[in-house]
Amino acid sequence: MTHTFITGVTAGLGAALTRQLCAPSHQVSGVGRRADRLQALAATHPEFLGLTADVADSAAMGDAVTRAEAAHGPIDVAILNAGLYQPVDGKRVDSDVFRRHMEVNYMGVVHALDAIIPAMVARRHGHIVIVASVAGWSGLPKSAAYGPTKAALISLAESLWFDLTPTGIKIQVVCPGFIETEATAQNDFDMPGLMTADDAASAMIAGMASSAFEVAFPKSFTRTMRLLKFLPYSLYFALMRRRTGF
Ligand SMILES: NC(=O)c1ccc[n+]([C@@H]2O[C@H](COP(=O)([O-])OP(=O)(O)OC[C@H]3O[C@@H](n4cnc5c(N)ncnc54)[C@H](OP(=O)(O)O)[C@@H]3O)[C@@H](O)[C@H]2O)c1
Repeated sequence: MTHTFITGVTAGLGAALTRQLCAPSHQVSGVGRRADRLQALAATHPEFLGLTADVADSAAMGDAVTRAEAAHGPIDVAILNAGLYQPVDGKRVDSDVFRRHMEVNYMGVVHALDAIIPAMVARRHGHIVIVASVAGWSGLPKSAAYGPTKAALISLAESLWFDLTPTGIKIQVVCPGFIETEATAQNDFDMPGLMTADDAASAMIAGMASSAFEVAFPKSFTRTMRLLKFLPYSLYFALMRRRTGF
């Protein structure tokens, strides 16, 4: 029996991952703040345990991990997916908005790691999957609050690789392109390569089964974004401005 712990299961990618992973041989415990949505998932998936918690609250995350392990046993796989995205205009920097992005997207992952890693190290077994974004590869329009949190997560995962792989823990970072969710519904621009949450979850589950450290999808879009990252800034800014209009 595999136990997968997932944050951010009440919508979008996390909900799709939960629906696809729940199976008689696969128990899932999932965190979110919307209790009604956690209850709805539990009603349709008997293998699912819903845990109401705010990932930005370290004590609440510690408690969620304790409850998950009490119900389903040791966590084999942790998918740290909960995230906040609010497009911003950098001409008006609201530090509360920037701080909240860091507290949820970055510290939310750190709080889960704090609660999960010691037992995985003791067991010399575990798989940690950190959901970042292609927005962490280079600065994108409207992403001044969100992008830096994802760049920080990529750097965090890279550093943890050195510490955790010798202990038998597998760590991966996931960099999706655009996925059709509540988060991207706020975007008023064309989103190339937009995927459904179900297709994104399938791509992510396939990537998690691989030995790759980084899982990026959809390939057509992420290959282009990766190339853009290596251009001189003058060319990068000009191409990005022409493509997005910002
Ligand atoms: N959509 C995209 O195009 C895209 C692209 C690249 C990367 N990503 C990343 O993929 C992940 C999932 O994104 P999504 O598009 O599926 O987002 P979404 O539809 O907006 O769903 C976000 C999920 O995170 C949870 N969440 C947000 N703040 C939370 C908090 N403080 N405490 C606990 N849970 C919280 C939400 O649950 P509650 O509101 O119930 O708490 C919800 O389940 C995020 O990390 C996002 O940055 C998304």
